[in-house]
Amino acid sequence: MRRTTRTVAVLLLLGYGALSWGYPWDQDMVDQPSPKPQKSPAPAGPGPGSVPIEGGETLPAPTTDAGMDQAKKAAAALINPIPASAESLARGASLFETNCRVCHGSQGRGDGPVGRKFVTKSPVDLHEDYTQQQADGELFFTLTRGRALMPFYRDALSATERWDVINYVKHEFGNP
Ligand code: HEC
Repeated sequence: MRRTTRTVAVLLLLGYGALSWGYPWDQDMVDQPSPKPQKSPAPAGPGPGSVPIEGGETLPAPTTDAGMDQAKKAAAALINPIPASAESLARGASLFETNCRVCHGSQGRGDGPVGRKFVTKSPVDLHEDYTQQQADGELFFTLTRGRALMPFYRDALSATERWDVINYVKHEFGNP
C-alpha cells in the first residue's frame, strides 16, 4: 500500500513537471521567430528575408504647429502618381464615404453627423478654395499626418488609397 502511494506520488510529480515545463522533446508553435502580439519585431526592424509590401512612410513627422505647416508646404512638391481615372474616382468615392463623410458630410460641406459636434473648429468645407487650391501633395500630407483636430489616415489608407481620395475630393468638390 505504501509502495503504491509512493508510486502515485512520483507519477503525479512527473505529470505535474511535464505539464508545467513540457517534455524536452515538446515543441510549441508559440516558440518561433515571429514577432509576438504587442511586441516590436526583435531586435530592431523586420527580420532577414522580409519583403516590404508598400514603401515606408517618408514624409516628415513634425511635432510643432509651425513644423506641420512647413512640412505641408514642402509636400506640395509631391507628384500625385495616380491618374484621376474613373476607377480611381470610384475607389476614392467609396473611401471618402467610409472615412471622411462622418465629419465632412457626404457633399463635403463639413456638416457630417460627427463634424456638426465640433465646437472649436468645424471640419472644412472641401468645396472652398482653401482646400481646392492646395496642391495634391499638401492634401496628401494632411491625410498622412492629420491636422490639429483631424485624425491621420496613414494607417487606415494605403498611399494609393490616399491619392484616390484626393482625386475624388478635387473632382467631386472642385469648382470647375
Ligand atoms: C473626426 C472628424 C474628421 C474626419 C473623419 C476627417 N476630417 Fe478632415 N478635417 C476635420 C477637421 C476638424 C478639420 C479642420 C482641422 C484643423 O484645421 O484643425 C479638417 C480639415 C481637413 C482638410 C483641410 C486641411 C488643411 O489644410 O487645413 C482636408 C483637406 C480634409 N480635412 C480632408 C479630409 C479627408 C479627405 C478625410 C477622409 C480621409 C477627412 N478629412 C476626415 C475633421 C475630420
